[in-house]
Amino acid sequence: MKIVTVVGARPQFIKAAPVSKALNSAGHTEYLVHTGQHYDYGMSQIFFDELAIPQPDINLCVGSSNHGRQTGQMLIRLEEVILEQQPDWVLVYGDTNSTLAGALAAAKLNVPLAHVEAGLRSFNRIMPEEHNRVLTDHCADLLFCPTETAVQNLAKEGIKKGVYRVGDCMYDAVLDFAKRAGQQSKILETLAIEPKKYLLATLHRPYNTDNKEILSSILSAFADLKETIVFPVHPRTRKKITAFGISHLIENGSVQMIDPIGYFDMLVLEKNAQMILTDSGGIQKEAYFFAVPCVTLRSETEWLETVQTGWNVLTGADHDKIVSTVKSFVRPHEHSPLYGDGNTAIHIRDILTDSA
Ligand code: UD1
Ligand code: UDP
Repeated sequence: MKIVTVVGARPQFIKAAPVSKALNSAGHTEYLVHTGQHYDYGMSQIFFDELAIPQPDINLCVGSSNHGRQTGQMLIRLEEVILEQQPDWVLVYGDTNSTLAGALAAAKLNVPLAHVEAGLRSFNRIMPEEHNRVLTDHCADLLFCPTETAVQNLAKEGIKKGVYRVGDCMYDAVLDFAKRAGQQSKILETLAIEPKKYLLATLHRPYNTDNKEILSSILSAFADLKETIVFPVHPRTRKKITAFGISHLIENGSVQMIDPIGYFDMLVLEKNAQMILTDSGGIQKEAYFFAVPCVTLRSETEWLETVQTGWNVLTGADHDKIVSTVKSFVRPHEHSPLYGDGNTAIHIRDILTDSA
């Protein structure tokens, strides 16, 4: 079986790692395409190095630009790659512009398409990811859902064929790498912080970062918490903080702004955090995997189960709500596995093989 896999953004490298390993271990041929959507060392190559993902067979080097231009450039190049490689499957992950470009390229060429992390919905069409998810799911022949909610979301849109609830390959990755991360990472020493005595924050959703008032509200809440906060800053967010001239809002000494970090350092920071504040999709789940309370800086989430079980609370960007939620968070007693059996990548591989 030959598969063309399309990745391009940070979370996709992490999701692809266990699946690539499962495919390679069964002797399948994977042709790995990196669209070049993320390109800084700390947003891309570091994950290939740490997670031992095979080097991409091709990097399309599209870089950053407006959505249409970026997606269009990927589409042109991906069509050439798929025509040249003639795969049995095109495999895409998540909900980025790289996902949509891979889906469209496969659909236009009538090459079977498989979507990992299918069926997720925020029902918020302001998010570019929501368009990417809906369109990709409606092009896909195999839809690998992490949760029952995702299966039901697809059913409501009339998609029932080719739908499999397989669990979440980000859980596989955590199980695979958390121990090694703990042995190799020196991040707690480097930042001079102690387990459970700091909060971890990340932020990169355009609706939080691209509006000065909203971004200021979140940053002021970070500062007003007066807790040690480690804040690995996404390049989009750093550019906006600089452009709006609002870095002074978090210069009270308690918030440590650092560059994006590798997966091993991130796992160690997540596991040892007292609480996580984030608008990331993947980090909400990783907080749950580690049984660390999460405050999500959004007003909705695709990962409903984390909220229903009490481990995740949605605050949006409201300053007072963020501060009061962090201060009053009651850690639930119950914690059960929600995201599969840790063998999601193997289930994906086996279904791909049986359906080829
Ligand atoms: C993208 C995805 C988002 C995902 C996120 C993961 C889309 C529409 N968005 O958002 O779903 O959650 O990746 O992190 O696909 N930049 C750099 N260096 C890099 C990459 C980006 O400086 O290596 C800067 C550029 O200024 C760029 C900005 O970050 O314009 C945003 O990058 P982009 O890939 O367009 O979107 P993300 O916000 O990263
Ligand atoms: N991540 C990382 N270093 C960072 C920030 C995030 O390794 O500085 C990892 C994180 O552990 C998770 C993934 O990147 O596995 C989430 O990516 P991101 O938040 O960029 O995107 P999203 O999940 O929201 O699409």
